[in-house]
Amino acid sequence: MAAPRYDSPVAATAPPGLSWHPLRQSYAWLRHPERVVDAGVRQHGDVFSVRMFGSPIIMHASPELVKELVSQPGDVLAAGRANDILAPMVGSASLLLLDGDEHLAMRRLQLPPFHGERMRGYERAMQQLADAGVSRWPLEAPTEAWPRMQAITLDIIIRVIFGIEDDRPRNAVRHAVKDLLRTGTRRSLFAAAGVKAAATGKRPAPDDLLLRGVARSRSRLADLLDAEIRRRRDEGGDRGDVLSMLLEATGPDGQLLPTEVLRDQLVTLLVAGHETTATALSWAVERIARHPELQDRLAAEALDGRHALIDATVKEVLRLRPVLPLFMREVVEACEIGGFRHEPGTLLAGATMALHRRHDLYPDPSAFRPERFLGDDAPGTYAWTPFGGGVRRCLGASFAQLEMRIVLSALLAERRLEPVGDRDEVIRRRSVVLAPSKAGLVRAPRRRAARPQPADPQRSEVR
Ligand code: HEM
Repeated sequence: MAAPRYDSPVAATAPPGLSWHPLRQSYAWLRHPERVVDAGVRQHGDVFSVRMFGSPIIMHASPELVKELVSQPGDVLAAGRANDILAPMVGSASLLLLDGDEHLAMRRLQLPPFHGERMRGYERAMQQLADAGVSRWPLEAPTEAWPRMQAITLDIIIRVIFGIEDDRPRNAVRHAVKDLLRTGTRRSLFAAAGVKAAATGKRPAPDDLLLRGVARSRSRLADLLDAEIRRRRDEGGDRGDVLSMLLEATGPDGQLLPTEVLRDQLVTLLVAGHETTATALSWAVERIARHPELQDRLAAEALDGRHALIDATVKEVLRLRPVLPLFMREVVEACEIGGFRHEPGTLLAGATMALHRRHDLYPDPSAFRPERFLGDDAPGTYAWTPFGGGVRRCLGASFAQLEMRIVLSALLAERRLEPVGDRDEVIRRRSVVLAPSKAGLVRAPRRRAARPQPADPQRSEVR
């Protein structure tokens, strides 16, 4: 691997590009992003550019460079502009799309429900929904983890945001979110193919035909959310959910958030908050099923109510199989990063996937070894970036890791995961996330030693 370029004199030239034909770069990025980043690092070291559908994206693949990237202020590097293909799905007031002071103010409002005591208050609901979800996994037939994890994480995010426990309203929101994700992510990818160079500022207007279906799906979900917001404003009171806090939150002007703004945040949380976590969980199932000795230790932890190794496993899954291979920023004001000068409009990326495959940070990087994350020499902040970084770091990072701990504990306490087929599943893109190629196909028979039950003579038999 070439030496990092970050301390070399500022270069006038653009970072070197991958030597492959541009079409091959775009195609490979969709099919095998790991091959693209491996080739980039092999050819050029820690900074290189990849052409995706005509637009060069500059990859940064060392902790030092990632730190430099995420430490830039929002008026130099913007994330919201780089995310604007998501606008038809999440709405223009979404936290994901804001930049600068507007972003910081909106983020400040949304941090409290995802931290500290408040977040611990969601554990019980997560636990109940995880147990209920796991009880529906078949005992003998092979099953795909991905859709089952999607169902669990969607139920959890709906419950935690709205506190909705009744089936009818929950089902309505559930269907609307699934529909929006299905139409939205597929069409965003196509739209991305037509999105030429934010770099040149010549981004074409979104294609009406492609986006009409997204708009329909979005307005169905928006109607449901608006009705829920109205109902909850009328009811008042704190129900311990995310919406309760957002309804009370006031902006810098001291005013409550308008319904449309609040709704865009809810759509964002619903969309950003479940498919990502479900995908990471299905990778966890795929990896754990193929490591029986680790699985026994994890199950023992789950049965004892401990979680150090489970947490380390969650981190290792997100390292080895990051759900999103990079995170993006767009240059707003000319700047220098990694020894290169970038003009406004240039797209820069933290190359999570490349970073996580570095031999110097992760010896034997393709091995699944959760112990890396135990003890004092665990990888540093900028060496592990499944959730991005800086002021744009994923708002739900702690939430997602807590949820993964709880769902995996529920699953491993009850079931033994057995792989179907001898070969490891490979990385396959499903819309925007990188999922296991067979959706985490396993058998999940009951484990012999079940979770200790509360003293109840009728339930004392070993299941
Ligand atoms: C394993 C699961 C998840 C992964 C891998 C993931 C990954 C990411 C990444 C890479 C970003 C961009 C960060 C950056 O640009 O620096 C992001 C942003 C975001 N995520 Fe997540 N995420 C996950 C779960 C969640 C959950 C559970 C929620 C909400 C409950 C959530 C809400 C958000 C929001 C609102 C943003 C935008 C933050 C901002 O722009 O300030 N995510 N996520």
